[in-house]
Amino acid sequence: MKKKVLIGSRERSRSLEAMRILNAQGYELVLNPYDRALTEDELLEMIKGVEGMIAGSEKVTAAVIAAGAPTLKVIAKQGVGYNTINVDAAKEHGVAVTITPGANSKSVADLAMGLIMAAARQIPQMDLSIRNGGWYRHTGVELGGEVLGIIGMGNIGGEVAKRAYGFGMKILAYDVYPRQEFIDNYGVTYLPLDEVFAKADFVSLHAPAMAQTVGMVNIERLSKMKKTSYIINTARGELIVEDDLYKALTQGLIAGAALDVFAQEPPKDSPLMELKNVVFTSHAGAYTNEAIVGAGVMAAEEVVRVLSGSEPKYSVVKL
Ligand SMILES: NC(=O)c1ccc[n+]([C@@H]2O[C@H](COP(=O)([O-])OP(=O)(O)OC[C@H]3O[C@@H](n4cnc5c(N)ncnc54)[C@H](O)[C@@H]3O)[C@@H](O)[C@H]2O)c1
Repeated sequence: MKKKVLIGSRERSRSLEAMRILNAQGYELVLNPYDRALTEDELLEMIKGVEGMIAGSEKVTAAVIAAGAPTLKVIAKQGVGYNTINVDAAKEHGVAVTITPGANSKSVADLAMGLIMAAARQIPQMDLSIRNGGWYRHTGVELGGEVLGIIGMGNIGGEVAKRAYGFGMKILAYDVYPRQEFIDNYGVTYLPLDEVFAKADFVSLHAPAMAQTVGMVNIERLSKMKKTSYIINTARGELIVEDDLYKALTQGLIAGAALDVFAQEPPKDSPLMELKNVVFTSHAGAYTNEAIVGAGVMAAEEVVRVLSGSEPKYSVVKL
């Protein structure tokens, strides 16, 4: 009988190249038929009898993993944020969980720069004004000479630093592991977290969602920022206390925000949507052809490795 591999990602997030790799191994592919993330109930049915899974943004809960056991051997997440996968349950059932480091860094960094520019020049607000018959013209700031604070100098934070350096920005960073190459080649200055918030004109978040980072952007930290500064989030919604951000934006503690990620996605009934000084994108950081192919291929290769008895390259669970 053919081994079955479930691809949880919806069609536009699936890579044909990744599917070719899996087909070449003779695996039968089970595909998400909807243009949305699979629900837990759907996954509970679809996971049965499957040996490998490529996961997108759907929640792979303990119940889903238990329903896949003992057949399920590997869950390969397309991307690096794996807070949607219950890794404790995976460990308990001997299921490998892998990620695709670096595959979407350039794409997310491009969007982060786009959001910085959109915030600095109010590009969406001018677009909207013209569509409504107006001619609103915003007086913004040049990025050259402005201070960018990068929180989390990993793959994406590093790519943002390279782009910001090209714009002539001064770059501050906070990370638990400083990277000397960025100090040497891009003039990055590492500082304590609160100092980065206090000194930056733009703070861009690139740290994972974990106990130490969830809620890190709260009213206390927002109060430390310059009144003319902006916060950009292409990491995870959980990093920002959204009620506190609303307060900071309405009380003039900061000038604006640009958000690709939210506590709840899509952000239904969020008071942030009433504000003119916030720019939104729809968790689209990794939505480029290059990132989808790159992450899909890396995930497919991990599935093949595990199902053929080899060690995965980018495991996040010690089995
Ligand atoms: N918007 C999107 O579509 C999208 C796409 C991909 C990734 N992401 C998010 O971006 C995050 C970063 O991705 P990456 O590929 O750069 O990951 P990465 O693992 O390469 O980098 C994360 C960095 O954060 C640092 N870090 C860890 N704990 C920290 C802390 N307490 N404070 C500050 N820094 C800390 C790590 O040392 C590392 O350098 C992911 O975790 C994910 O949540 C979003």
